[in-house]
Amino acid sequence: MATVDLKDVKKVYPSGFEAVKGVSIAVPDKQLCVLVGPSGCGKSTLLRMIAGLETISSGTVAIDGKIVNSIGPTERDIAMVFQNYALYPHMKVYDNMAYGLRNRGTPKDEIDSRVRSTAKVLELSTLLDRRPRELSGGQRQRVAMGRAIVRNPRVFLFDEPLSNLDAKLRGQMRVEIKNLQRSLGVTSVYVTHDQLEAMTLADILVVMNAGLVEQMGAPLDVYEKPASTFVASFIGAPPMNLLALTAGSSGPMLADGTAIAFAPEQARAATVGFRPEDADVTFNAEAPSGALVLPALVAAVEPVGAESFLHCAAGGSSIIVRVAGRATATVGNQLRVVAKAEKLHWFDHAGKRVG
Ligand SMILES: Nc1ncnc2c1ncn2[C@@H]1O[C@H](COP(=O)(O)OP(=O)(O)OP(=O)(O)O)[C@@H](O)[C@H]1O
Ligand SMILES: [Mg+2]
Repeated sequence: MATVDLKDVKKVYPSGFEAVKGVSIAVPDKQLCVLVGPSGCGKSTLLRMIAGLETISSGTVAIDGKIVNSIGPTERDIAMVFQNYALYPHMKVYDNMAYGLRNRGTPKDEIDSRVRSTAKVLELSTLLDRRPRELSGGQRQRVAMGRAIVRNPRVFLFDEPLSNLDAKLRGQMRVEIKNLQRSLGVTSVYVTHDQLEAMTLADILVVMNAGLVEQMGAPLDVYEKPASTFVASFIGAPPMNLLALTAGSSGPMLADGTAIAFAPEQARAATVGFRPEDADVTFNAEAPSGALVLPALVAAVEPVGAESFLHCAAGGSSIIVRVAGRATATVGNQLRVVAKAEKLHWFDHAGKRVG
């Protein structure tokens, strides 16, 4: 059993740069928390502070309710899996996995049984005599995982562990990591800048931007109710369509002058958004009341098999609409994009959600 609690954690590097500006996150026992955000937003810095590899400038990190700020990395009982795997190239798989246990003076018999049972779980049993260079990328990744698992730590930390793998393998390993984490029930913090990985792995999704938490919650809640334009455009691929609004005499209208219906709480909105899958494409004029109706010019059609993406010029902006299967529209078509009122997201001048 282990919980991880961060309270107002900050990191100022010796250069004076503030990489983490006050982050509070509570990870309950056995849960997988994913930190996602653009390059440089402070994810690795935060993870390294949890691991004890980086000093904490202010705030507290607690494991199981005990503050560990001044406790060294080895005593924190945490295992970290890195992007580059950090395997010892001259050692066999077996020894790479046994290394940490030997360092701790674990009895030989116990090391052997733990390495072999972990290798079995990870389907590495036949590879124990190979060296890292004789393995595929996915196998190396599994050895790095195995090295973390044999230690039976209280907490797993992952820093972009799949980013060196090709797309197919990344998809497979993503499922494996999720299943392993569930079956082992080890509290974990996982860093990635891949929003799909974040959505599919997380019990708790934490979206970071410039050293701060923008939003935290269950992945689908974050997807359905992004707290800001930043989150709306970071989570989801293709991202949410965002259209700038200007203030008309009676309330907001689209930048190109198109009138729109809005509720009182949306009167101060500066941006309206909708997801690519939340709009219909039509050639006729009817639309439900309150819907956003955009005259649109098709600029490109991207068929990806099960669906197609229509790139359109609309409302003074460029938007993407997702349609099932083959698109009937072609480049140059004039059509209407209709997003129902309940599918619209409204944001104020600061980019914060207002409805
Ligand atoms: N030792 C250091 N000294 C000064 N600044 C640093 C140091 N390490 C990192 N930084 C800066 O702190 C910020 C956060 O870095 P960090 O490595 O945590 O980002 P990240 O979110 O993990 O990014 P990425 O997705 O690219 O790995 C960056 O602007 C980085 O340049
Ligand atoms: Mg990083």
